[in-house]
Amino acid sequence: MFCLPLLLIVISSTSEVQSKNTCDVIPKDLYIQVGSNIDIWCDSLCVHGKVFWTLDNKVLPQSWSTPINSSHTAVSLRNFMRHKAALQCHSADTKEPLGGTTIKTYAKPTNVGCILHYKNDSWGGVPQLFTCSWKHQSHVSEQINYTVLVSSQLHRSQFEICSSQEKECTTKDVHLSGNITLVGNYTVTVRAKTNHWEVYSHPYEFQPYRILQISPPKLNLTALSGHILAEWTTSATSKKHHCQIKYNKVGDKEASEKVLNKTLAARAKGRISFDKVESCTHYKVSVRCALDKAPWSEWRREETLLTQLHRSDVKLHLWRKVTEPDQSGARKVYAMWTEIPSTCQGTFIYSLNLTSTKHHGNATRPGRTLCGNSTCKIEVNEDAHRLKLKVHHNETLLAEDSVYVPAVGESLPEVANVQTWSLGGVIHISWDAPAQPASGYMIDWTHDGHQYYWKESSSTNTSLFGLLNKEPYNITVTPLFGDKTGLSTQALQICSTVAGPGNVSNINVEASQKSALVSWTMKPQEVCSGVAIHYVVFYGTEQGPQLNVTVDGTKQSIHLKELTPDTQYSTYVRAVALTGSSQSNVRHFNTKKFDLMIAIPLMVSAGVIIVILLFVGPCAALRCKKILKKQVPNPGLSSVALWPSASHQKGMLLFRPFSYPSESLCEPVYMEESQPFTTLDTQLDPTAVLKEHYIDPAVITQSNKRPHDLEDTSNQSPSTESAVLLSEGGSPLSPYRSQSSVESPSQSDDKECKCLLPISHQESSTPLSVYVTVELFEQYQSMLEK
Ligand SMILES: *[C@@H]1O[C@H](CO)[C@@H](O)[C@H](O)[C@H]1NC(C)=O
Ligand SMILES: *[C@@H]1O[C@H](CO)[C@@H](O)[C@H](O)[C@H]1NC(C)=O
Ligand SMILES: *[C@@H]1O[C@H](CO)[C@@H](O)[C@H](O)[C@H]1NC(C)=O
Ligand SMILES: *[C@@H]1O[C@H](CO)[C@@H](O)[C@H](O)[C@H]1NC(C)=O
Ligand SMILES: *[C@@H]1O[C@H](CO)[C@@H](O)[C@H](O)[C@H]1NC(C)=O
Ligand SMILES: *[C@@H]1O[C@H](CO)[C@@H](O)[C@H](O)[C@H]1NC(C)=O
Ligand SMILES: *[C@@H]1O[C@H](CO)[C@@H](O)[C@H](O)[C@H]1NC(C)=O
Ligand SMILES: *[C@@H]1O[C@H](CO)[C@@H](O)[C@H](O)[C@H]1NC(C)=O
Repeated sequence: MFCLPLLLIVISSTSEVQSKNTCDVIPKDLYIQVGSNIDIWCDSLCVHGKVFWTLDNKVLPQSWSTPINSSHTAVSLRNFMRHKAALQCHSADTKEPLGGTTIKTYAKPTNVGCILHYKNDSWGGVPQLFTCSWKHQSHVSEQINYTVLVSSQLHRSQFEICSSQEKECTTKDVHLSGNITLVGNYTVTVRAKTNHWEVYSHPYEFQPYRILQISPPKLNLTALSGHILAEWTTSATSKKHHCQIKYNKVGDKEASEKVLNKTLAARAKGRISFDKVESCTHYKVSVRCALDKAPWSEWRREETLLTQLHRSDVKLHLWRKVTEPDQSGARKVYAMWTEIPSTCQGTFIYSLNLTSTKHHGNATRPGRTLCGNSTCKIEVNEDAHRLKLKVHHNETLLAEDSVYVPAVGESLPEVANVQTWSLGGVIHISWDAPAQPASGYMIDWTHDGHQYYWKESSSTNTSLFGLLNKEPYNITVTPLFGDKTGLSTQALQICSTVAGPGNVSNINVEASQKSALVSWTMKPQEVCSGVAIHYVVFYGTEQGPQLNVTVDGTKQSIHLKELTPDTQYSTYVRAVALTGSSQSNVRHFNTKKFDLMIAIPLMVSAGVIIVILLFVGPCAALRCKKILKKQVPNPGLSSVALWPSASHQKGMLLFRPFSYPSESLCEPVYMEESQPFTTLDTQLDPTAVLKEHYIDPAVITQSNKRPHDLEDTSNQSPSTESAVLLSEGGSPLSPYRSQSSVESPSQSDDKECKCLLPISHQESSTPLSVYVTVELFEQYQSMLEK
């Protein structure tokens, strides 16, 4: 218990001893007004020699520091602008810092301004509110308390009337306090205060009427034919004041807003009328006023009003399309006009009157035609007509217009060389004027043949706006000559914008071992689709790199090569047009393990050779000599005229078998030196052989009946081929095939090789005429029977 005070004494005494030799910078933690000057001292008793200063670690010029005596040095900072800085004093010998301080700055509030104004719901009288605002740059996070101080010549003393932590402050019921009235001159000062500093703004002087903001005026609008009348009243009619009235179409951009200025003398009435307003259109109007040299009032809340229909605004703008005449010369006229906007109140009755100009108005057919609000379809004959449109409102004629319908075949001037081009969704048209000077041109256009748009142009070019995207437009130009028209000229159909290419669809892949044939089709293209200039086929395995190959726009297939066998690939196709590109879905496929296209023929060939060697080989060897010796008559050297004396009727029968060539079991007939074995080979469908014979060659060799089958299969399909074979020899449809047809069955005894060696018996049998007759056949049969 006794130790603690003792300890404190000891500590304080030692620190006292040390302080004599300490170094330091004074004063500490400075707050100064921005732009002011400051002197700071360094106490360098602890070291010998000179000192130098650094500000935010930058050495200050030696000239800024002034030695006072052996142990003190001062530095003088002029016009200090930094928000915050660290100043240090260093020993010149050791460069060691001897001490330091921080300097922070604050600024005065500026741009002080005040207004006297009224509470929202009040109107005239003395203003209840006094609002001052100012600017203040501060880089400190600590709270700043602002106070508004007012003084007047009347009161002399300054008193606080408002305080705030924002840069704005409103005094309510200032009229009750009596501190500010509407007479005299006043001065306002704003004080900013924190725990560390306090600063005052420059004084702001005002005369109350100069800062009086009146309440928004009261506005009264009237829609009259062709214009709007605006009337308003303010709370300050007893003094000269200025007003602004702004108006704009509802939904229009703010930039198109119009503002009218009006200065009113004391007791003058606020009244203004603005014309050039569109008929049957909603306008919004607002007004504000200000006393002379005083701030503007708030804008009056916008009021909306619908303008009345102005007669001069009714432009029917009548036009017509005439179809080609039918056989009787009747034509359909599609009349169209600009409807009176539906925003116009009241009922408008349109009536269309058709007059044949041939009869000079005497005969009017079909008389008045009541139509829709903006279109009408009428039938007219081949004569020239005039269409007259009238619109009535409340039984009074509002407007009328007429248009000429030329007679069929009427010779009238027309424009030439109509050219169209589209750019950014806008179609531009130009044409050559006809020889006869035209008063104007009517351009009409449609994308569907039902909805027509039309406009008049005085020059020989125009642009069509507001078109639908990617639609083909039919555009017609007709010259106008006063109230008559020329002939219409239709431009080539043109697209408002060109779309990307159609969609790539139906990706088909035929994959083999190392390659794949990828083909695709394009979805039926829209009229305004872009044409694919090329295709890019992307393909790759899941792991492998994504490859691509570009295909000319005229082709729609590609052979992908160098693929890995037995692997899954994915592929898709991108169609590229000038206007964009489209991409197909991804298609997966697998490459084959083996290439059947190569494997099958190899296996088949090998199989066939084995069969032949095992089965036919010995037989062939046995018969070899006979084959070489035998003589087959050459049908090419024969002639039908050389028939022997046999009866004509029998000779006719000769032809019968020709119509049934395939009836013969041993159809393929080989001429003289032809090699039956090789021919047979080439004629066989390899897969058929594989099925029928290759599977089990052992069976074939064991069974005597198998060769029949062999013949059958070779016979079935290539009956035409064999005919071709024969006809290749020169003579078309050789009747001589029947020789073997007849002979072959006779060889049915020869079970081993009957068909492959079809004419082997000829030698041993009678050297008969090559031409087989029924007689001969009978002879032969009987011979065999013997
Ligand atoms: C040096 O000047 C300072 C300030 O004027 C003073 O406090 C101090 O005692 C002086 N020291 C000497 C040794 O004169
Ligand atoms: C107020 O100041 C204006 C000039 O600023 C001066 O003309 C006017 O006489 C002053 N009014 C009074 C009441 O002092
Ligand atoms: C600022 O104003 C508040 C509330 O009026 C007060 O509590 C605070 O002490 C003031 N701060 C300073 C630095 O005057
Ligand atoms: C109306 O007055 C404002 C300023 O008071 C001015 O900028 C504007 O041009 C004036 N408008 C017309 C149409 O005179
Ligand atoms: C014509 O316009 C009136 C309103 O002005 C409307 O009631 C009527 O349905 C319209 N008739 C047709 C055929 O569009
Ligand atoms: C546009 O004109 C072409 C050529 O005369 C015609 O075949 C086609 O039907 C027209 N299309 C429309 C929508 O009128
Ligand atoms: C018509 O052509 C002229 C010059 O060729 C051009 O200046 C003008 O803008 C064009 N008018 C329209 C409506 O395209
Ligand atoms: C096609 O592949 C090549 C590399 O083989 C690559 O540089 C190119 O960008 C690919 N093309 C496309 C359209 O991806």
